[in-house]
Formats: sequence, structure tokens, C-alpha cells
Amino acid sequence: MNIQQNISLKKYNTFGIDVNAKRFVSVDSFYQLQSVLEQEKNIFLLSGGSNMLLTNDINKLVVHVNIHGISIDKETDDEVFLTVNAGENWHDFVLWCLEQDYGGLENLSLIPGNVGTCPIQNIGAYGVEVKDTITKVEGIEIDSAKRIEFSNEACLFGYRNSIFKNELKDKVVLTSVSFCLTKRNHTLNTSYGAIETELKAKGITSPTIRDVSNAVIKIRQSKLPDPKEIGNSGSFFKNPVISTEHFQELQEKYPSIPSYKVSETEIKVPAGWLIETAGYKGKRFGDFGIHEKQALVLVNYNNADGKDILKLARKIQESIRTSFGISLEIEVNIIS
Ligand code: EPU
Repeated sequence: MNIQQNISLKKYNTFGIDVNAKRFVSVDSFYQLQSVLEQEKNIFLLSGGSNMLLTNDINKLVVHVNIHGISIDKETDDEVFLTVNAGENWHDFVLWCLEQDYGGLENLSLIPGNVGTCPIQNIGAYGVEVKDTITKVEGIEIDSAKRIEFSNEACLFGYRNSIFKNELKDKVVLTSVSFCLTKRNHTLNTSYGAIETELKAKGITSPTIRDVSNAVIKIRQSKLPDPKEIGNSGSFFKNPVISTEHFQELQEKYPSIPSYKVSETEIKVPAGWLIETAGYKGKRFGDFGIHEKQALVLVNYNNADGKDILKLARKIQESIRTSFGISLEIEVNIIS
């Protein structure tokens, strides 16, 4: 294996944090990765680097999963089953699906990161989660360096959650994800308010999957910073779920508080609204801050230290606890 020494990880994480990797290896096939894992167990995995905040140099061997390729496993008149290797860029894969007229992922357009990490946090946007189309996930168990396969059920998907964030954290490396997508009679998810408004504004009454993707791209571009321009990891916090009683108390004080019903007893409130109401939206502290258009996103304007961004996150958590009695959970992986 070709191990490089002292590599800056700045271009390998969408937050653009400049930490040093003492040793770094990029693998471009399943077997190369397997051979690395046969020799080294103390590794730090890097794929798209889109859901992490690096706060220190990395002393473990950094393994960059750079395995490419898409293959069609099976198709019928209605559906296609395909397997995509972990190193494929997520949005490029979504665009490729649109070119083939494969439906199911259009609402997940423009999400940063690679295919291999999409199951870990069960990426979701505009009423769709990736778990709805995943049939199987394949990987390598780090301890045994053996191939391991997970059915959709075995992934224990939840809101921004899966088995790979819990029991199997740091135990497997995902190498490919298999999907079932539609070839015709696509099920469109346009009920998310902003998509409907966007389609209406364009005078589109019977949208195609490409129209939905274009609407999503437009909405995301208007609210979320492009990591190529401003370093970020998307939503830094999860949207918290609170009891109906707690919500009613807050609603008396803040009549305009947005909410989504989760169950008869639970309500989800947008963390972005809480952070904005606490006065943080758009605040800048030198090289880092809170995005001006979406308070849920912390940003690195240039050369911020991950530790400072983490300190800001802790300060926001404290402030939301004091103002609203709500504990905000961090959504990105903090690497210390
Ligand atoms: N809001 C504010 N101020 C803000 C941000 C949001 O008041 O600064 C309010 C909005 O006005 C709206 C509500 O909060 O009433 C929801 O906002 P939005 O539709 O932007 O969605 P979100 O709940 O803030 C979630 C996901 C995003 C995803 C969008 C669209 C989480 C943690 N985040 O954000 O995911 O794109 O919905 O589906 O669930 C990501 O995970 O990285 C991500 C960007």
C-alpha cells in the first residue's frame, strides 16, 4: 500500500478544516481496502468528508475510500436494482439517475458527500430519506477484514440515524450501497411546501423527476452554503423532538414557532428556528460563524480551527437550553 506522510486534510472535508494526517492512504478497490484492513486496524475513515468536524490532527492511518463504479444488477419494466461503489459523489450519482430517468432520489439532489456515507446518517431532505430506496449495504468488517452485508432492515434506519452510527460505529467500512429505483410511474414527493411553491412559480403542473430535482436544487442553493465556497457540513444539529405539553408552553410565548407532528405525544421543532430566535443567525466570529440564511448550518469562512467551531456549537446548545429548555443534539461527527 502506498502510504503518504503528513497530508493536509483540508480538501478532504467539506468544512475545510486544515488538520494534518500523519499517514494517509487512498484505496480504489474493495480488495485494496481489504488488504489495508488486514494489516491495520487503527484507522480513521474518510469518504466524502461531508459530515464531520475535525478538531485535531489525526495520528491514526487515514484511509480514503475512493472506490468508483455503478452497476445494474437487475431490471424489470418498472424498476431497476443497482449497486453503487462508496467513492461515487452523491450528487453526481443523482444526476446520472436523472439522465437515465430513474426515479426516487430527486429530492436528495445536491446533498454533499459520497454514496458510501449516505446510509450512515440516512440522508434526508424535502420529505424523502435515502432509506426509502436502499435495498442493501455492503462493507468490510474492520476486525476480521471480511466482507459483510446488511439488508435494509438490518441497517436500523431512523431520522439521521442507522446502526452504523451506533453499534457498528468504527467497526465497518462501507464499500457499496444498492438501490431500487423506479423506471416509470415515478412516485413524486412534492408535498414539501417549498417544492410546491417553486413548481408553481415556474407554472409546472405535472412535474417530472427532473423538475423536482431542479426545484430542490434551487431551494438548497438559496438557503444552504456551497461547501466549495464556504466550508460547512450541512445541518450541524438535529431537529429536536419535544413533548406536546412542552411545545404548547413554547407556543404560548412564541405563537409563530414552526412544528411537525411526530406522534400524539411528540412534536419536532426546527433547530434552525430556535437558533435564529436565540439571536445567532448570521453571527460571524472572525473566520467562522452561523450561516446568514440557515441558522442550522455552522460555517468556516476560511481557515477556522475546528475547536473554535465546536466551542461555538456548545455555546449555542447552552443558550437553547436556557431559553427554551431544549437539548440540541449535534448531528455531525466530532473528531477529536
Ligand atoms: N427556520 C428558521 N430559521 C432558520 C432556518 C429554518 O426559522 O434559520 C425555519 C423555517 O422557516 C422553516 C423551518 O425552520 O419553518 C424548517 O426549515 P427548513 O425547511 O430549511 O428545514 P430544516 O428543518 O431547517 C431539515 C434538514 C435539512 C434538509 C431540510 C429540507 C435536519 C437536521 N435538517 O432542515 O438537512 O435539507 O430539512 O428537508 O433535519 C442536512 O441534514 O445537512 C440538511 C441540510
